[in-house]
Amino acid sequence: MNQEDLFKNIIAHAKEYGFVFQSSEIYDGMSAVYDYGQMGVELKNNIKRYWWEAMVHLHENIVGLDAAIFMHPKVWEASGHVGAFNDPLIDNKDSKKRYRADVLLEDYLSKQQEKIEKEVEKGRKRFGDTFHEAQFLKTNPNVLRVKEKIDLVTQKMSDALNQNDWEGLRQLILDCEIVCPVSGSRNWTEVRQFNLMFSTKMGSVSDEADQIYLRPETAQGIFVNFLNVQKSGRMKIPFGIAQIGKAFRNEIVARQFIFRMREFEQMEMQFFVRPGTEMEWYNHWKEARLRWHLSLGLGADRYRFHDHDKLAHYANAACDIEFAFPFGFKELEGIHSRTDFDLTQHQKYSGRKQQFFDPETNESYVPYVIETSIGLDRTFLAMLSAAYIEEALEGGESRVLLKLPAVLAPIKAAVLPLVKKDGLPQKAREVLDLLKFDMQTQYDEKDSIGKRYRRQDAIGTPYCITIDHQTLEDNMVTLRERDSMTQERIPIADIHGRIMSKISIGKYLKSM
Ligand code: GAP
Repeated sequence: MNQEDLFKNIIAHAKEYGFVFQSSEIYDGMSAVYDYGQMGVELKNNIKRYWWEAMVHLHENIVGLDAAIFMHPKVWEASGHVGAFNDPLIDNKDSKKRYRADVLLEDYLSKQQEKIEKEVEKGRKRFGDTFHEAQFLKTNPNVLRVKEKIDLVTQKMSDALNQNDWEGLRQLILDCEIVCPVSGSRNWTEVRQFNLMFSTKMGSVSDEADQIYLRPETAQGIFVNFLNVQKSGRMKIPFGIAQIGKAFRNEIVARQFIFRMREFEQMEMQFFVRPGTEMEWYNHWKEARLRWHLSLGLGADRYRFHDHDKLAHYANAACDIEFAFPFGFKELEGIHSRTDFDLTQHQKYSGRKQQFFDPETNESYVPYVIETSIGLDRTFLAMLSAAYIEEALEGGESRVLLKLPAVLAPIKAAVLPLVKKDGLPQKAREVLDLLKFDMQTQYDEKDSIGKRYRRQDAIGTPYCITIDHQTLEDNMVTLRERDSMTQERIPIADIHGRIMSKISIGKYLKSM
């Protein structure tokens, strides 16, 4: 199956099993806004918990925060979002559709990359076992031609974006002969800047009400509380403040399911350090965050670092941790060395000092900041897409399986009486009572046992416990494991310990 079809199946599966629904679907939905269903909310909460434990509870010098979404409008002037949080947009005059100019070019570059992959496929078929991919990529004239084009367009795009050269960006779109996917024409408007923040009014009388913004990142709630937390928590530098919360962006390119949303959640941590030590801490957090991802056990080949060529105005180093989504490697988390930009700006705009007195050096300074910022919804999509497997079984059967890390699975154990009579449901509920205080469980007595196993596979439940007539006599149950489908008879008294040892958050965190 190609990756596009696979992705379609994942989206359909997410809806069918109650993970993700289109927002306001009965009114035909809203683009790039999604609701999390009964399974989705559990998976999401488990991801949040895994991040919070790793970042806050495992670090003596990191504490949490839950700042309001509404903030004083001056916050966004100080942070630079009012002036510079823009996307370059271009409209097609025939279809009247609006696009992000840089995304049109990125799509063009992906298509060129696909051409190279097709050439490699052809080469592999032609040369069979003697095919040497690295050599082929270095010497094949078709590949070299396309590569040259990719390098040139990438360089020109990067220059145009760095220099805010919107006419240059438009010219590049024309030179690459990019057509509108809807009208098929090259009838483009000029490129314009479009601010991504949503605004609304606060106050009862609309004429006098202040224009305020829905926060486009959670980070600013941390910056404006830097001294509150430092003083009330008697924190010493280096220390961090972590927060999970909603952010809002009026994204124009709304596609790829929950990858790019207008309302989404971020898990961010700002780490305040002594000026001059920021690169050391930047490297520390780069490695630490990658270890967190790897501890979930999806495989190192799914992740890679991407260092930024174009640094944001506030950063002196930045990289992304990219994940291999079904539509290619894309940003999952950003790690930024934000210098003292934000605190200095808030100092300027608020007129209040944002400094720390360092008892070790006997001086006051505005701390530098290393930020780790990961999208919760993107992590959700990463988990879902890596876990989704369509598996052929013996005897021509098949099953759809979510091979989620056990620590994140929405349901950890399903308790299934073999039949709905003879006292088996009562016994099953006794087993459920042994487990439900420590883990998410589900009780299911409908349909054949095979169908029930399939339903649990499809939502990623690591363990099923079956209660049969023999259980009433010997207090033994069948424990079925999701991935291997192996079944084992074990005493009821051992179940709790067995499952806890596999789903323990501590066990996963220790592998970091
Ligand atoms: N405070 C820094 C910041 O917001 P960012 O790279 O714009 O940096 C951080 O966003 C992370 O938030 C991204 O790596 C991504 O995972 C997530 N994110 C950003 N925009 C998003 C969107 N429209 N939909 C879903 N997730 C998004």
